[in-house]
Amino acid sequence: MLKILTLIGARPQFIKSAAISRQIQGSFSDRLEEVIVHSGQHYDENMSSVFFKELNLPVPNHHFKLVANNHAAQISEIIEKLEQVIFEEKPGAILVYGDTNTTLAGALVASKINIPLIHVEAGLRSFNKVMPEEINRVLTDHCSSLLFCPSLTAIDNLKNEGLIHHSGACSMDTPGVYLCGDVMYDNSLYFSEKINQSKIDQLGFDEYILLTLHRPSNTDDPMRLKAICELLMMFCDEIQKSMVFPVHPRTKKALETHLSDEEWFAFNNHRYVNVLEPVSYTDMIALEQNCDLVITDSGGVQKEAYFFQKPCMILRSETEWVEIINQGVAFLVDVNFEDFIQKYHLLESKKTTYPKLFGDGNSAEFICNKIANTFV
Ligand code: UD1
Ligand code: UDP
Repeated sequence: MLKILTLIGARPQFIKSAAISRQIQGSFSDRLEEVIVHSGQHYDENMSSVFFKELNLPVPNHHFKLVANNHAAQISEIIEKLEQVIFEEKPGAILVYGDTNTTLAGALVASKINIPLIHVEAGLRSFNKVMPEEINRVLTDHCSSLLFCPSLTAIDNLKNEGLIHHSGACSMDTPGVYLCGDVMYDNSLYFSEKINQSKIDQLGFDEYILLTLHRPSNTDDPMRLKAICELLMMFCDEIQKSMVFPVHPRTKKALETHLSDEEWFAFNNHRYVNVLEPVSYTDMIALEQNCDLVITDSGGVQKEAYFFQKPCMILRSETEWVEIINQGVAFLVDVNFEDFIQKYHLLESKKTTYPKLFGDGNSAEFICNKIANTFV
């Protein structure tokens, strides 16, 4: 039996981990044991515990409370607490997801204590190191013994950094690198069937755009955030569609800080704008399934738009999920009205297909199999 210590702490990680935990509890319960550590990075009820309940995640065996706010302090606090837990739990491997500060903390501890690190969602690159996640990804991949890539692009990115697949014993120097598809696709399929649990329909949204926004590059510069709000109101007016906006707590704070009372009032009370608190996962996928268009800067949401065959405008200057762009069903957009309108009409007029770019919905099973066979 291999004891895996899973470190999660941010909203998308709770969601991603659901697919693997389901497998461990199901088909792999005789080969894998999971100890879950919640880093405490996300802590609001609607950013954390809602997912544990709704996705049937095991209650974390260890749950940190962080006091730090800025990045380095947050990472170092997780590192210190995690090291103690690892000494106590003595896992055979550490499993991390994605690219958050929690991910990097786990990677650094694993490499220092010399416990094999497993990275799910390896190989993604924005090639923009100003983005806080980019350095987290690069460092985590280079600390890993098993790298699970959701796309061929991710495999190529790792190859370009010298991380190629080695058969035989896995280590940081000789990692196993696998194309496994996307655990988020597994979840989209699995939880779509439970969509009737969603209460979001009762809000009666019809013919709407779904918006999410939380990248520091969009929220932290007051001028840019104001420009985005103005642009979104103009865009909704122009195409006469409402917009549903579950607001990330970072963005809520930025809106309240960077917009004047009048500006916030105008945005929040705009006839087409519906500002919501963060919603649960099944509510979110119900919103995605029923919307006409997704506008987002989220990595997960742009992919879910693809899974549910919705056109997407990505409010960023680059994306890690280039396949979606190459498929012609999503565009990068600038904070610019003409650009918005032009891309919107292009998306509207395109007849397009959505081939399976992110696996077949069995990524978690593949990953668990490889883990169980690698560390016997
Ligand atoms: C983090 C990840 C980002 C991921 C996002 C998912 C890093 C560097 N960033 O960004 O990659 O896309 O999570 O949602 O790890 N806050 C609350 N309540 C919460 C959580 C956060 O109020 O439950 C507020 C706090 O003021 C906090 C701010 O949001 O300072 C930012 O939170 P943080 O976890 O540092 O970064 P995110 O923007 O959430
Ligand atoms: N999500 C959610 N409720 C929300 C907004 C997003 O459940 O109000 C889900 C979304 O469906 C996706 C994941 O959170 O599965 C994406 O996480 P987020 O956008 O926070 O981070 P990113 O993917 O950009 O790292």
